[in-house]
Parts: sequence; C-alpha cells; structure tokens
Amino acid sequence: MAILMITGTGTEVGKTVATAAVAATALSAGRTVAVLKPAQTGVRPDERGDADEVARLAGTVHTLELARYPDPLAPATAARRAGLPPVRPAEVAETASKLAAEYDVVLVEGAGGLLVRFDDDGGTLADAAAVLDAPVLVVASAGLGTLNATELTTRELARRDVHLTGVVIGSWPDSPDLAARCNLADLPTVTGSRLAGALPEGAGKLPPADFRTLASSWLAPILGGTWNAAEFQARESPLRSV
Ligand SMILES: Nc1ncnc2c1ncn2[C@@H]1O[C@H](COP(=O)(O)OP(=O)(O)O)[C@@H](O)[C@H]1O
Ligand SMILES: [Mg+2]
Repeated sequence: MAILMITGTGTEVGKTVATAAVAATALSAGRTVAVLKPAQTGVRPDERGDADEVARLAGTVHTLELARYPDPLAPATAARRAGLPPVRPAEVAETASKLAAEYDVVLVEGAGGLLVRFDDDGGTLADAAAVLDAPVLVVASAGLGTLNATELTTRELARRDVHLTGVVIGSWPDSPDLAARCNLADLPTVTGSRLAGALPEGAGKLPPADFRTLASSWLAPILGGTWNAAEFQARESPLRSV
C-alpha cells in the first residue's frame, strides 16, 4: 500500500475520518505518511482543510493541498467561479508519485464522490487512480440508499480497471437500523468485495489519543488493522428473522 486513493459514495460520508484512521494505523505500524488533498473546496485560506483534520486526528503526517477554492462546490466548478486554474488528474498523479518516493504511505482524499470533476475536461479522481495504477478505497454510508451508490461507484472502478481495495463504512451507528444491519451482508454482494472496515459513529469526535489507539480496530487487515468482517457482522447483524 504505497499510494491509496480514498473516495466515497458522496460527500459527508466519512472520507476524511476514514483517511485519518488509515493514517493512524500506518503511523502506529511505524510508517511515514503523507496525505494529499488535491483540491480543497469550501474553505478560506486561513481555515482548516480535510488534510489538517487528518493530521489532528492521526498525528504526524505530511499534508499537502494542490489548490484551495472558497466555494463549497465540486472542484471544477469552484475553480471556474474563483477564476483559478483547476487541478488536473495528471498533476494529482505526479504529486502522489513524488510523495511516494519520500513517504511509506500516501493517502489521496478525493472531493465528494468518484466522478466529481476536478477540471472542465471532466478529469476525476478515477483518472488519477488509473494513471497511477493505484488502488481505491470507497467510503460508504451505513444506511438506506448506500447499496445503489456503492455499487455504482465500484462498478465504475471495475469498468476502468482500477483496483478496489474495499469498502469502509464511514460511520456505523450506535443503534443500527434494519437497513444498516442488512447492508453488512448486501454491500459485499453488490460490490463483490469484502468490507474493509467500519468506523463507529462518533469516531471523529474522539480525543485524538483515543482515535489513534482505536483506529486499527476499525480497519481490516488489508488496511493494516485487526477488524474482522465476519465477527462484526455476527455481532451487529444477527439476522435470521422473518
Ligand atoms: N465515524 C464518525 N464519527 C464521528 N463523526 C463522523 C464520522 N464520520 C464522519 N463524521 C462527521 O461527519 C462529517 C463528514 O465526515 P467527513 O469525514 O468529513 O466526510 P467526507 O470527508 O466524506 O466529506 C464530519 O463532520 C465528521 O466529523
Ligand atoms: Mg473530506
């Protein structure tokens, strides 16, 4: 896992918090970590971006943004409105490769979902992943509606021959409803990939020291953690009813 791209089924699904968990897990294994947020939208120059949030939660990571746009919009739109040059997928790929020469792990957090546009030529995080031949982690929400969005995302990765590392649930509720519990079985079915972790609701609000201690327990071994999909499902989704 030198370069890992982190996308989601949409915005606010927990990409940043999941990125922080992967970073914290890598750091606790003694690896050096860089976090690249190619285009940070919706923040002013003096505000904290997603990469800063990863550093707050995970600890000593090198952070880098290629561009910042004030409007909380897709990067291509935000760049156009700001009259600033967009970030290009080739630039994302080149920067990530350079970081990978210096750091053990490079985490690239996209903006919104997989096909959110970085530029007016339609360039996306998927293009950067394809150029790099880097795997993609998909962060998904737990509840109703996630099956369709997650399957669309993983199908698009497959269509582009981009490797899917797995699907991580960005925020697993303290009291999961029926849809969330059923999704533990259905997400692997619709994506053809085992779940790669689940962050508990509230993870992002933990004191950073606790976040760092617990992060590896939320992630499957493929992400360096100890989370066990079968055990989690047996505990959270004892579905035999009806
Ligand atoms: N597991 C979680 N525990 C607590 N808060 C979370 C969790 N996942 C997401 N959040 C919160 O939800 C919001 C969106 O999460 P974030 O990781 O920033 O999503 P994204 O990067 O996909 O837009 C943030 O306010 C974040 O603190
Ligand atoms: Mg984010």
